Amino acid sequence: MITGASSGIGETFARALAQRGYDLILVARRRELLEVIAEELSSAHGIHAEVLAADLALEEDAAMVAREIEAREDASMLVNNAGYTLEGPFAESDIERQLDMVRVHDLATMRLTRAALPGMIARRRGVVINVSSLGGFAPQLDNSVYCASKAFLIEFTETLHLELSGSGVRVQVLCPGFTHTGFHDAAGSDISGIHDWMWMKAGKVVEESLRALERGNVVVIPGRRNRFFRFLYRMPRPLLYRASLRLLEFAEDRKNK
Ligand SMILES: NC(=O)c1ccc[n+]([C@@H]2O[C@H](COP(=O)([O-])OP(=O)(O)OC[C@H]3O[C@@H](n4cnc5c(N)ncnc54)[C@H](OP(=O)(O)O)[C@@H]3O)[C@@H](O)[C@H]2O)c1
Repeated sequence: MITGASSGIGETFARALAQRGYDLILVARRRELLEVIAEELSSAHGIHAEVLAADLALEEDAAMVAREIEAREDASMLVNNAGYTLEGPFAESDIERQLDMVRVHDLATMRLTRAALPGMIARRRGVVINVSSLGGFAPQLDNSVYCASKAFLIEFTETLHLELSGSGVRVQVLCPGFTHTGFHDAAGSDISGIHDWMWMKAGKVVEESLRALERGNVVVIPGRRNRFFRFLYRMPRPLLYRASLRLLEFAEDRKNK
């Protein structure tokens, strides 16, 4: 099962897993997009792909998806990928949309993972991939709830890794940096200030995630540049705050040129 499979990284996971012969359950709100993807992948790879339209910010929808997982005796992989961001100062933000973000990123991930794990543990095999972000390692201006909700996923997954040691079930938290998808458009973000070299393709992100799975890596930061940023994020916090403010000014200058 892949959540947020109607576009971007989730859709790319669906394509990569279909190629490897996995049957799929695709979850997102835009049913029509999911149906087109499911049909294409079923006929291209001879797999079975189902569609589950759900808004994971709604408790009843998340519970319905969880029941679907519990009902499967063969659920082998869960990719908790659905997500979005809202940019802007927290003090001026729409609190309901911020709360929904936490519901989608964290509460739905908890619920679906809780539904998947008992069966996986009993079968002694299974994989859960939680899609976090480089933003989960350090504060990013105007992105407070996003960063905090992604940081939650890192701690959550690493702790599960410890709890599941020896169970045969593997967990991974995937932390991409800037990736070409519908993500920034959906947020209405102005990305003109971000250099081309900072971007990755969704295909590469997913490829690195699946490769890391074979190696058993738990925290996966795709791309050398992103790993370099992760390294920089370890600098003393006051320095990091100053650097973040400088970067913002730099991006603003670039936009205004
Ligand atoms: N792109 C980046 O630069 C980047 C960087 C770091 C991390 N990430 C993370 O990667 C993940 C995938 O994002 P993406 O870049 O692939 O963006 P995307 O193309 O916008 O895809 C987001 C997916 O999440 C689904 N989704 C959003 N809200 C949902 C809800 N309430 N219920 C169910 N599904 C929902 C969307 O489907 P519907 O609209 O059809 O519901 C869509 O399939 C996110 O968790 C994001 O935080 C992205």
